Amino acid sequence: MNTLAIIGGTGLDTLGILHVDKRELVNTPFGEPSGPVTRGSLFGQEVLFLPRHGYNHNVPPHQVNYRANLWALRAAGADSVLAVAAVGGIRTDMGPGRLVIPDQIIDYTWGRSSTFFENSPGGKSEPVTHIDFTEPYCDELRQRLLKAAFAGNIAVVDGGTYAATQGPRLETAAEIERLERDGCHLVGMTGMPEAALARELELCYACCAVVANRAAGKSGDIITMADIDKNLKSGMQRVGDLLESLMSFD
Ligand code: HPA
Repeated sequence: MNTLAIIGGTGLDTLGILHVDKRELVNTPFGEPSGPVTRGSLFGQEVLFLPRHGYNHNVPPHQVNYRANLWALRAAGADSVLAVAAVGGIRTDMGPGRLVIPDQIIDYTWGRSSTFFENSPGGKSEPVTHIDFTEPYCDELRQRLLKAAFAGNIAVVDGGTYAATQGPRLETAAEIERLERDGCHLVGMTGMPEAALARELELCYACCAVVANRAAGKSGDIITMADIDKNLKSGMQRVGDLLESLMSFD
């Protein structure tokens, strides 16, 4: 692997495992990314880091400038991207705190700028291009994550279909039942168009999903932000362990 970029939430920042060298403001033809790109090191390896929701965690999922974020990371030198993302678990083995490396996506989002191949300022002026998206995640990075998890004795679920919903509200119980009937196993608000845009830029993109809560209607309880925060804290600890193992391979 050459340069890995990590797109994450604030949880990763506060883990304190990232040694920051500098922060670079990257201009893109698509507007501003969620913040400056952090160049730093993680367990001795150079990485780039960008918090999807901004350094103050104030950009909601439907307003993230996904195009600018991916463009900025590529411009900063990334050729692979690990997306860390909070999700709700639909399948019973995806309980709070679990890590999942999904292998499929169904996109339920709408109204997001979801391609570089259109006539917008900075858009590619080439003929319309349809990327192959049969396998939405880069298998090479997925396999490296799974190998790192095995070597580090870190429990992860290998595979699962990620339902990308619009947010920012959580789903109704009936919506989750529908997603389940559709074959989805986990649900989050940021997986798309991020994965497709990464493919358009030929970045090797994979996701490490952290289960923050059981999806709506799956636990008998309502979902509170306090519970989400608590579960994310323990999940992020595991993400840190996984990254340490991953970095020791590369
Ligand atoms: N649904 C959608 N996105 C999420 C959830 C959820 O239950 N939990 C964390 N992100």
